[in-house]
Amino acid sequence: MLEDWLAPKAAALEARGLTRRLRARDADDDLIDLAGNDYLGLARDPRVMTAAADAVRMWGSGATASRLVTGTTTLHEELESALAAYVGQESALAFSSGYLANLGVVTALGGPGTLLVSDEHIHASLVDACRLARSRVEIVPHNDVEAVEKVLAERNEPHAVVMTESVFSVLSDEAPLTELAAVAAARGAVLLVDEAHGLGVTGGGRGSVHAAGLAGLDHVVVTMTLSKSLASQGGVVLGPRVLREHLINRSRPFIYDTGLNPAACAAALAALGVLEAEPDRPAAVHAAAARLAAACDVPPSSGAVVSVPMPGPQQAVEAAEVCRRNGVLVGSFRPPSVPDGVSRLRLTAHAGLSSDDLDRACAVIVDAIGQVS
Ligand SMILES: Cc1ncc(COP(=O)(O)O)c(C=O)c1O
Repeated sequence: MLEDWLAPKAAALEARGLTRRLRARDADDDLIDLAGNDYLGLARDPRVMTAAADAVRMWGSGATASRLVTGTTTLHEELESALAAYVGQESALAFSSGYLANLGVVTALGGPGTLLVSDEHIHASLVDACRLARSRVEIVPHNDVEAVEKVLAERNEPHAVVMTESVFSVLSDEAPLTELAAVAAARGAVLLVDEAHGLGVTGGGRGSVHAAGLAGLDHVVVTMTLSKSLASQGGVVLGPRVLREHLINRSRPFIYDTGLNPAACAAALAALGVLEAEPDRPAAVHAAAARLAAACDVPPSSGAVVSVPMPGPQQAVEAAEVCRRNGVLVGSFRPPSVPDGVSRLRLTAHAGLSSDDLDRACAVIVDAIGQVS
């Protein structure tokens, strides 16, 4: 039965060059990694790995239950306090992934009395959050502040949440946060900013909301993943304490999910400590991203991701494969993961890349693009 149902769908994807395949990596491969999201180069930092291993020895291999039962450890609270202090927010609440943090906050603020206003380039986790929230949703053109103001002004709902990313995940461009926060305040709305690509990279590491002077405002809410700059796993919602209390009581992805693994908490906390102690790491990410963008002749990126448009999905996959064969791991974006239908190579700049590695990676990538275009 499933064969008849699913095989034609698989064939249709294959014909369009859109099949996704898993490829397990070896722990000791010596590829230059421009595909993973370990922006600050901390996933194999001994301080971070030791913290995770120590946490396993102290707390065991899992959180053992929902945060509301036995799944909250002192590590969770330490991480939440440290991260909130670092990015200038009153409070933080950790979820077991960034995806769930987005689902958790949007569904807890959503409902029939809340309008959700979504930038058209928003990440899939926020798109899914809108679908689950039982709210009316208005999708507005990318970074269009006037369109946001119009839908806020015309709404009948008493509440509204405007959703954006500080640095967008595909194009790596920035949202006009100051303008959006002003419009939201004037129209009685909350601004929700996903800083998945901002934390550790923009604003000297503290993210774009902090850099824009918006951290701590009572209508600004931030979500973050622990899986990129903090080299771990998990997600966090940051904002006023009253929001944290509301999420603990009303956010189903928080209540009905096993708490974030203590080892992941400890790794993120240790990575945050390294970021604070070594504040030059974000600048190294920008320098590496600038070199990659210049080599590929694309505009400079605001974050760690450099997106290189390709003629089509097949060429994106082929170019990534040529790079891999030549020792450089890069990603590709293809529909439906791109907001504008354009397939791209996805290059991730890392703070830990040596100058020689970057030179070699640039040469391999440029050659691969030439081969398939
Ligand atoms: C913008 C954005 N939000 C949320 C997520 C989800 O975070 P996580 O991988 O921790 O679930 C990601 C990436 O994975 C992302 O790029």
